Amino acid sequence: MASLFLFLLCLSLSVNVKPLLASPMASSAGNTHHLERRSSENDACQASLNSRPPLPETGYYNPLNASTGSMLSIVPEGETFGEPINAIISGKSSKSVLCPEGFLRWATSINFGVSCLGNANGTPQFADLGDGYGNRTQGTYDGQNGVLRWNYGDPILGTCKESFLGDNHFRWWIQNGTEGNSNAIFLAVSMEESAALGHKIQLDGYNRGRDYLVGNVTSYTNGSEWSGFRYNTTVEWVPAGVLLNATSDRINHPDVALPGQPVQDGRVAVLTVTQLASGQRSSSDASRPWSVHPHTLTLSSVVVSSLAFAFCLLA
Ligand SMILES: *[C@@H]1O[C@H](CO)[C@@H](O)[C@H](O)[C@H]1NC(C)=O
Ligand SMILES: *[C@@H]1O[C@H](CO)[C@@H](O)[C@H](O)[C@H]1NC(C)=O
Ligand SMILES: *[C@@H]1O[C@H](CO)[C@@H](O)[C@H](O)[C@H]1NC(C)=O
Ligand SMILES: *[C@@H]1O[C@H](CO)[C@@H](O)[C@H](O)[C@H]1NC(C)=O
Ligand SMILES: *[C@@H]1O[C@H](CO)[C@@H](O)[C@H](O)[C@H]1NC(C)=O
Ligand SMILES: *[C@@H]1O[C@H](CO)[C@@H](O)[C@H](O)[C@H]1NC(C)=O
Ligand SMILES: *[C@@H]1O[C@H](CO)[C@@H](O)[C@H](O)[C@H]1NC(C)=O
Repeated sequence: MASLFLFLLCLSLSVNVKPLLASPMASSAGNTHHLERRSSENDACQASLNSRPPLPETGYYNPLNASTGSMLSIVPEGETFGEPINAIISGKSSKSVLCPEGFLRWATSINFGVSCLGNANGTPQFADLGDGYGNRTQGTYDGQNGVLRWNYGDPILGTCKESFLGDNHFRWWIQNGTEGNSNAIFLAVSMEESAALGHKIQLDGYNRGRDYLVGNVTSYTNGSEWSGFRYNTTVEWVPAGVLLNATSDRINHPDVALPGQPVQDGRVAVLTVTQLASGQRSSSDASRPWSVHPHTLTLSSVVVSSLAFAFCLLA
């Protein structure tokens, strides 16, 4: 009886969710403006890649070579600790992947997406990648999309499930400052707990998050694919002691270490992403799931749809 009630409630609330999900990005003037702005930023980013100086052999500039650079993120409420930046998309990757639009498409192809219905991502984190830009905020030009979550294979609602149940997620920053313009993308990957447990990092969550990401991206025989865009991702490992030491010093949540181990092992995965096939660029939600943007959602619609989803999970 109780589960029938929940099922019906779920169904009726889900009806409220549908129009929200189906609403195309370009349906209002504001959204159209947003897309155009995004697309001109993408063009500017691609143009800047064409005048990029020759890359270092590694495909990125080592942030530690600059006096202020660091391979730890900056957590605003705790200036003395951060999260390890434990994966890098090499600047040798296809240029299309090195700007936010293509990067987000690649992320979708490996089952990561923007947080649940454009929901807030908690406190943003920052990074100084030693490229002369200084302290930069996570994500796209306007600081959006800075947290990407595992979508359980469902690009529309999957990251909502992740938000409730926890799993893999990463924050990202592009190294494009004038003193180190590689356009490499630096990722801080970790496994997080469920919402009920406050999204804390899971046991051994930094190493496991990075290793699951690498395990996934290297598992596609024919490349990963989203909406006709197909990518091959290869990995090279930077051993501990080069970019990060195997230590818990200055790491956020050192208590999630395995017994007798440092909380992160100091290894960094360098991924090179090659675009194999190109799909259609489109402004519809279906091929641009990341464009679900907080500006397009009212707070109440987010609350209603989050509740609906919670009920669906329970039912
Ligand atoms: C470099 O990245 C910042 C955001 O981190 C962005 O505001 C800026 O437009 C980027 N530069 C180019 C040329 O894309
Ligand atoms: C950074 O420093 C390392 C070690 O000192 C050096 O090998 C490397 O070439 C430097 N340059 C870059 C671009 O990372
Ligand atoms: C980085 O910028 C953020 C946002 O302005 C700020 O909260 C934080 O304190 C800054 N951190 C450093 C080390 O400058
Ligand atoms: C892929 O990622 C998922 C979600 O984090 C994880 O459960 C799975 O073990 C990963 N697969 C590999 C081969 O690492
Ligand atoms: C990979 O591509 C080949 C050639 O197009 C095809 O025969 C094969 O079934 C594909 N494998 C997978 C896992 O999609
Ligand atoms: C991906 O690149 C690697 C290394 O070049 C190659 O061995 C592999 O066959 C490529 N896979 C695809 C699907 O292109
Ligand atoms: C590792 O620790 C040693 C000793 O404290 C230090 O000299 C070195 O700079 C550290 N390396 C990294 C990559 O943090």
